[in-house]
Amino acid sequence: MCYAIPGKVVEIRSHKAILDYFGERKTVFTDHNVKKGNYVYAQGGIVVNKISKKEADSILCFWKRKFFELKKRDEILGKVKKRNSKLNKIFLKVKQKKSLVKKEIKTLLNAKKDDAVFLHSYANFLRKKNLKNSCCVHGIIEFSNYCRMNCFYCGIKNSAKIKRYRMSEQEIISAAENAVKLGFKALVLQSGEDLFYTKKMLSRIIKKIKNMGVLVCLSIGERDFDTYKTLYKKGAKAVLLRFETSNKKIYEKMKPKKKLKDRISLIKKLQSIGYLVSTGFLIGLPKENINDLIDNILLTKKLKPDMYSFGPFIRPKSKQNIELNLLLNTISTVRIIDKKSKILVTTALETISSKGKKLGLLAGANSLMIDVTPKKYAKLYRLYKGKFKEMKEEIKNTLFLLYSLGRAPTDLGL
Ligand code: 5AD
Repeated sequence: MCYAIPGKVVEIRSHKAILDYFGERKTVFTDHNVKKGNYVYAQGGIVVNKISKKEADSILCFWKRKFFELKKRDEILGKVKKRNSKLNKIFLKVKQKKSLVKKEIKTLLNAKKDDAVFLHSYANFLRKKNLKNSCCVHGIIEFSNYCRMNCFYCGIKNSAKIKRYRMSEQEIISAAENAVKLGFKALVLQSGEDLFYTKKMLSRIIKKIKNMGVLVCLSIGERDFDTYKTLYKKGAKAVLLRFETSNKKIYEKMKPKKKLKDRISLIKKLQSIGYLVSTGFLIGLPKENINDLIDNILLTKKLKPDMYSFGPFIRPKSKQNIELNLLLNTISTVRIIDKKSKILVTTALETISSKGKKLGLLAGANSLMIDVTPKKYAKLYRLYKGKFKEMKEEIKNTLFLLYSLGRAPTDLGL
């Protein structure tokens, strides 16, 4: 099974390599010893692995036909049908590369019925135009559900009465090996804020996983600058850290004893270390309104994330979750105001609707995550209800979906 296409190095410019994928050229960073003519895998714009020509040839042989087949399908699905709508004026502004004002963003977020369909298809068109048909597929290993925090919204908060687990170092490594065997080239290591895993332990784990030839992304919450710096040196190159809400009052209510400004400052510090940072927010937290959503979108953009990660707040008890249409409108709005961004379809969106993944990808998103945590633990990692999915089924369904939409599960779009 392939989750990535190897690229051929056609040029080296100090720490940058220019890769060729069937005629498409991409520039990526490399600290690997690569030379012109080598074949490599890149993730998040970074070379993560070098492979032999023989291995590359056999994989490229599979992709050669498929690559162009998928592009054609994406081309057909990515066409926008012209429509008479108040949105046309806003799209024209976007075309002229002008920034949208809050009122216009609100109009996008509030689009309903035919207007919403039009909005999603325009965003999908922009995704295709700017980033082609690539879709990143990350694997996620949820290695501990212990958490020292008590965030109001979270199912694994410290005070939650749930069965807790911690995967051993060896279990984490084995889970990563398994994911690599299945073809993953980017792995997210996620846990509650669990200080049981020291800087030393995490360093060992990261080093081993990095050496498997994958991009290691951390999602372990707030740690001190020194820890994050060390983990970067050991080989973690990406971090997922949402600010959750840009509304200071709500933030401080949701996260007792925490300050929004400290979270934002950590995100910036992580970027200064060199991490690729994925950030974003929850949609529909209690007391949030549409203006907060607009501010959340604008704050994420201001932070210049390498990937947007936002999703619906799944209420622990009530079934009254946020409407799917608003979630899709948010994806489309982000695509429109930040055309070249990577936008993740979160698992929480799939919890709202079984078609969430497909609709999200057709509304402007271009990135996915698949849970590769061993089943016995994945079932216990319940940030919210209804999260667990059988891994093998999920991989099969995701690949089927991507191919049916004409998307190549690759990192090409960066
Ligand atoms: N609904 C949706 N997302 C949640 N998260 C935590 N609890 C919930 C919930 N109830 C998200 C947070 C966190 C990420 C790891 O999981 O946004 O950043």
